[in-house]
Amino acid sequence: MTPIEEIAHILQTAGVERYGEQRVTQLQHALQCAAHAEAAGSSADLITAALLHDIGHLVDTHFEGAAEAGIDRRHEDIGCGYLGKWFGPDVTGPIQLHVAAKRYLCAVDGGYFDGLSPGSVRSLELQGGAFDGPESAAFLERPHAREAIRLRRWDDLAKDPAAETEDLDYYLGFAQLALRNGRAA
Ligand SMILES: [Fe+2]
Repeated sequence: MTPIEEIAHILQTAGVERYGEQRVTQLQHALQCAAHAEAAGSSADLITAALLHDIGHLVDTHFEGAAEAGIDRRHEDIGCGYLGKWFGPDVTGPIQLHVAAKRYLCAVDGGYFDGLSPGSVRSLELQGGAFDGPESAAFLERPHAREAIRLRRWDDLAKDPAAETEDLDYYLGFAQLALRNGRAA
């Protein structure tokens, strides 16, 4: 199996499960997130990051029930580690920071917290809550922080049961390009 075939397989099997309490599946969530990234004129790397930002949930065999048990499995690190075999930091960096970006946005954007889904509010608590001032400043210094913030906003929008997107193969075309970018780096 090529990397793209393996990723496609994961999204088409584990990905057909519901995304937490959302009315979309993991796959729909991934496609919608990628569609927002593309509509914003993003690079192939960032569209790929958007498509695959939650793959850590899907490759984590201990994910089921963890949140209910009060355990943060750190899916952002699992996803980053899994994809790091194939993709460069322009893909894995924003993925690794997309949870920290939520903690950052809760600190600096007054209306952001109010727009979070109930599941995101609950996971925020497990993930450590909003950053304080020094943590926010330190976050912005990290490479890929700004891309992670953009990804995070698309992530929050990508939970619409009525949204229509291109199909998985279409977005995997960007992943194929990103794969080459990662190898060239
Ligand atoms: Fe997500």
